[in-house]
Amino acid sequence: MNYENIVVETRGRVGLITLNRPKALNALNDTLVDEIGHALDGFEASEDIGAVVITGSEKAFAAGADIGAMASFSYMDAYKGDYITRNWERVRSCRKPVIAAVAGFALGGGCELAMMCDMIIAADTAKFGQPEVKLGILPGAGGTQRLPRAVGKAKAMDLCLTARFMDAEEAERAGLVSRVVPAEKVLDEALAAAETIAGYSLPVVMMIKESVNRAFESSLSEGLLFERRVFHSAFALDDQKEGMAAFVAKRKPAFKHR
Ligand code: CAA
Repeated sequence: MNYENIVVETRGRVGLITLNRPKALNALNDTLVDEIGHALDGFEASEDIGAVVITGSEKAFAAGADIGAMASFSYMDAYKGDYITRNWERVRSCRKPVIAAVAGFALGGGCELAMMCDMIIAADTAKFGQPEVKLGILPGAGGTQRLPRAVGKAKAMDLCLTARFMDAEEAERAGLVSRVVPAEKVLDEALAAAETIAGYSLPVVMMIKESVNRAFESSLSEGLLFERRVFHSAFALDDQKEGMAAFVAKRKPAFKHR
């Protein structure tokens, strides 16, 4: 498929999606979000891909949902068209790990898209924010829900209510991003992390992703029960035998299910 708003490549066992609407700072219109979903479908179905990286440009990961496209929306346009939920949740439903490599602005829907990913690796130039309040709306793709889970109520309220931006250093301190690296290294760092993940057993990686995500959906005792059930099931995998045999034999494991 020819994409209009993204560039899709593979690097080793990693699928790479680069948002590509530079003139609009990668503002997320419907077509672009549909294209991300389509690319993820392909990567998820591919035996050759173990993890995905989503990135933007040096100046912007994404400056939010496309304001021009929604400026004249009526309530019925938004409600009937299931605006945001319709296609955005595809990132969250991807069963393979997805890493956001963020440089520059990650605002509104851009910040929300990054938060839908499993981890965020930020350039030292990254700026995160939920400035929707300035537009007379509120975050609509999870900003009021995922941000407090990531950074706590105090900072989430601060960002959503004042519209101020948070730089990469503050975002790392607050727990929104897993690593901060110099801007010129952010994509390589994300691709290397993704390649590492893609070298492990895919079912185990998927079990880990599912279990960590469960922590946000359940009580501690329910989450621990879920983890234990999944942990026990890992002993049914050839890759568990291989991983442990390789450790004992002091050799590198050759996982079968990748
Ligand atoms: N939608 C549409 N176009 C956008 C855009 C957006 N979210 N963000 C930037 N652009 C466009 C600008 O209109 C401009 O286009 P033109 O050159 O045709 O005028 C171009 O990108 C460059 O932007 P600026 O000239 O504004 O660049 P800047 O460096 O001066 O400022 C910025 C950068 C601070 C990111 C500023 O562009 C900005 O504030 N953008 C909007 C951020 C925002 O409010 N995002 C939230 C959107 S609502 C949302 O996302 C809802 C949701 O929860 C899903």
